[in-house]
Amino acid sequence: MQTADKLLVKALKGESVKRPPIWLMRQAGRYLPEYRATRTKAGSFLDLCYNPELAVEVTLQPIRRFGFDAAILFSDILVVPHALGQELRFEEGRGPLLDAIVDDAGMARLAMDQFHSRLKPVYTAVAGLRTALPPETALIGFAGAPWTVASYMIEGGSSRDYAKTKAWAYQRPESFQRLMNLLVDATASYLIAQIEAGAEVLQIFDSWAGALDHAGLLRWSLQPMKAIVDRVRMSHPEVPVIVFPRACGAGYLDFARTAFMHGLGLDSGVPLDWAFTQLQGRVALQGNLDPQLLVAGGEAMRSAAGKILDAWGHGPFIFNLGHGIVPETPPQHVEDLVKQVQAWHR
Ligand code: CP3
Repeated sequence: MQTADKLLVKALKGESVKRPPIWLMRQAGRYLPEYRATRTKAGSFLDLCYNPELAVEVTLQPIRRFGFDAAILFSDILVVPHALGQELRFEEGRGPLLDAIVDDAGMARLAMDQFHSRLKPVYTAVAGLRTALPPETALIGFAGAPWTVASYMIEGGSSRDYAKTKAWAYQRPESFQRLMNLLVDATASYLIAQIEAGAEVLQIFDSWAGALDHAGLLRWSLQPMKAIVDRVRMSHPEVPVIVFPRACGAGYLDFARTAFMHGLGLDSGVPLDWAFTQLQGRVALQGNLDPQLLVAGGEAMRSAAGKILDAWGHGPFIFNLGHGIVPETPPQHVEDLVKQVQAWHR
């Protein structure tokens, strides 16, 4: 099947479809026993990310089980700073740990010279997926947004308050802008390489956009993501892009008005009627079932999913969660949800 005929691509371009497509953030992961088995075989999480054969395998696992309309490349947003030369490791139960960048000298050590050679296994996985996926399944490539990636680079891992990152942005905005520019260049180049390896749709994750004040949201989330999309569009204007500035509240209006993207990822806090009246006329919506409802399952999940479908399913819309699947999720609930979305029609 041609890329342009796939359900996800049609929905993103606002073409009429019989039902909304469905895929779920973190659809490959620890809630699946077959993922845990492959992960053990790979060794560490990063070994899995850089092993094309196993990365392809875990990407395909949820497709085989549930028949999602899209597969998302199995990797992580932190391979970008890693390829720029920053130390990175994942510790069991602690998440990512990086050698924190604390000043301009640390930033100056980041380099593009080995960037693509270090990311070669990712491109090999993308190419492998294009041949291995069922013909109707769209392949999504992705990257983290500069703000979210910078927060890990500066804090040295996950953070509660982003104090160091914000201190840098507030006290030395010109220097912080240089870091953003560097990440815009690297990320655009990374996403273009994914397209050239076979990615058909892109998603940019700004998971911590909601931590910014409104001026910060425009300058450090919206502007850098727009710069990336503009760059990608110059060489690949046909490839739809979804941006996910998570938990930015009324700030979603600024994204929809700027409309540099095809799809806007919405977190679970976004009111259905507000997004319908304010956003859906301008962009395709993606979201926004609470991941904990997928853990709960049953009538609570069915009724919430039904409300989302009835509110947004008549316009350009992709069914998804408001954030990633959590490890406690029973696979049976995912199957129930996919069946419900597949059975819904306009
Ligand atoms: O969605 C998918 O199925 C594709 C794979 C994917 C992963 N990470 C795999 C992963 C994607 C798209 C990501 C993006 C990512 N990574 C984000 C943005 C999306 C979001 O969730 O907000 C962020 C912030 C990261 C950084 C990251 N990676 C953290 C904070 C952690 C630790 C938390 C955790 O869940 O363990 C990771 C690890 C990670 N990335 C895992 C997976 C499947 C778990 C690692 C394991 O197997 O132990």
